[in-house]
Amino acid sequence: MNSKHSISKKAILIAVCIVAVAAGVTYFVTSSAKDATINEMNEKLNALQQKIDDYEKGTELGKEQVDKLKKHNENIENTESEALTPETATQVFETDGVIVVNKKHPVPESYAPYENPEAVEHLKELIAEAQNSGIDLDYSWSGFRSYDTQAGLFNSYAASSGVEAAETFSARPGYSEHQTGLAFDLKASSGALYRIDDASYDYNTDWVAQHAADFGFIIRYREEWQDTTGYIGEPWHLRYLGADLANKVYEANEPLETYLGVEGGNYN
Ligand code: DAL
Ligand code: ZN
Repeated sequence: MNSKHSISKKAILIAVCIVAVAAGVTYFVTSSAKDATINEMNEKLNALQQKIDDYEKGTELGKEQVDKLKKHNENIENTESEALTPETATQVFETDGVIVVNKKHPVPESYAPYENPEAVEHLKELIAEAQNSGIDLDYSWSGFRSYDTQAGLFNSYAASSGVEAAETFSARPGYSEHQTGLAFDLKASSGALYRIDDASYDYNTDWVAQHAADFGFIIRYREEWQDTTGYIGEPWHLRYLGADLANKVYEANEPLETYLGVEGGNYN
């Protein structure tokens, strides 16, 4: 009776143990399976989120491109329909907050903001750094030029070189970037325009060309861009854009007109 009793007690104990172990294993297997499923779902969700992010980024980029194209077309339409002159223009032409002056975009005759102080501050820094690097640059420049000053200059070039030749290197009054106060002609200590007679001038190695963007400037006119800018190369003519935009335009290695999607070329 005693041994029977103890056997059944043992049996119950074993049974309880078996059930407990089975329950533990089942729980372990189930929870591992659950974890695996949750992990898998998380991975899928992450992948989906990535796709959504990529799609939105793609859409943003696409939107930027479309906006740029629209702006470009608007600019061309405006230029063609209005064909402004310095006498009829009432404001300077701007795109994305950037002033653009060329043979298609004159400034009003009376526009006279004088030298841009921010630009001058950075110009002085550029000259100081150039001098430190052994470059022959003077603290004298031709910056802001009024409509009348430009008229005198253009007329004297036209008289000495002929109108056709003068127009390749000198703007008609009302069409000069100098009238914005954002353009500066650099000069050497001799008083001559920077690199004017330097046949070995190379945009790819010249100190000013290579460092101007860090001070917020671009070399506005390069020989190979004449069809777009309307002028022959001018290693001395800097245009202030601010370091951010200047670096972007420099990296793009193209005329300002092309970078901004603005019409350039010859007079209408
Ligand atoms: N030399 C530049 C083109 C000007 O006259 O503005
Ligand atoms: Zn100039």
